[in-house]
Amino acid sequence: MEFNLAVIKGDGIGPEVVSEAMKVLDKIGEKFGHTFHYDQLLMGGCSIDATGVPLTDEAVAAAKKADAVLLGSIGGNTSTSPWYQLPPNLRPEAGLLKIRKELNLFANLRPALLYPELRGACPLKEEISEKGFDMMIMRELTGGLYFGERETKEVDGVMTAVDTLTYNENEIRRIAIKGFDIAMKRRKKVTSVDKANVLDSSRLWRKVVEEVAKDYPEVELEHMLVDNAAMQLVKDPAQFDVILTENMFGDILSDEASMVTGSIGMLASASLNETKFGMYEPSGGSAPDIAGQNKANPIATILSAAMLLRFSLDLDKEADAIEAAVKKVLEDGYRTCDIVSEGTTLVSTTEMGDLICERL
Ligand code: IPM
Ligand code: MG
Repeated sequence: MEFNLAVIKGDGIGPEVVSEAMKVLDKIGEKFGHTFHYDQLLMGGCSIDATGVPLTDEAVAAAKKADAVLLGSIGGNTSTSPWYQLPPNLRPEAGLLKIRKELNLFANLRPALLYPELRGACPLKEEISEKGFDMMIMRELTGGLYFGERETKEVDGVMTAVDTLTYNENEIRRIAIKGFDIAMKRRKKVTSVDKANVLDSSRLWRKVVEEVAKDYPEVELEHMLVDNAAMQLVKDPAQFDVILTENMFGDILSDEASMVTGSIGMLASASLNETKFGMYEPSGGSAPDIAGQNKANPIATILSAAMLLRFSLDLDKEADAIEAAVKKVLEDGYRTCDIVSEGTTLVSTTEMGDLICERL
């Protein structure tokens, strides 16, 4: 079959890791008889340099036409890069927020799991890490504080900034349904994270999640306050299956969960709308400090490509093949510098891509 993918390599290590994922996709195409056509689009700092804005309307239109979007990463060093001298709505991150909103990508899936081969990378005590963990963070991505009205102004001679946190019941319901659907395919447990002891938006969140839960009698639902969730993630991560939460809490907790795996370079993510369309990207950032050195770990992006095949193109066998090849490469002892340890073989970004292709 033929597929059209929009590819946004972005900034920092983005171009290097996305190139490896494309290499893997082409190998999959050869093996399984598919052709992937790539439409390369600009977003983030590279788009600012080329066009003056972090994401053009033309790029949005092209992304909408594709079957799915594969993204590397965007942004640079916030203290040294000239991109951060620009007004906030023209900085790299504004491009990312715009594409999420324009493509209505309200459901952000961020898996955080401990690979048995990389258990040693987990920064927690051995008695915790030996239990292993495998959770899916389902973050609401197009509402809440990141999209509410904001303003900085002088009030009675005092500089004052306001950000607004708004959720309506429909926004909560649709992400809750996605969370419960995913739980049905996993261990059937949803932990809904909120701050219902303080925030109205969280109280509505809790009420709507409880309504949705009635349609999923097999799924166990628990509520957890976000501050407690932050503690539980380091105390006993094995307790979590699906964590369902709003935009900012999900932003923070997903970074914490990925750090607990010790190998953020291994973690993929997907951002989906109501249909099969989605944007897929590694969980890690643009890592400007190691950009252009052929050092970055491409596995998170390669696994993001596998998620793309599975969720947007219904190519499960092909996705399985990529995940199996990644597992094999780890078993064979190959590691990029972020996950290297004694007794394993250090390889570069491009070598890792080649080794995975060889195992497909
Ligand atoms: C993420 C990032 C973004 C977010 C930033 C870059 C706007 O931190 O994808 O988690 O907060 O959503
Ligand atoms: Mg984040």
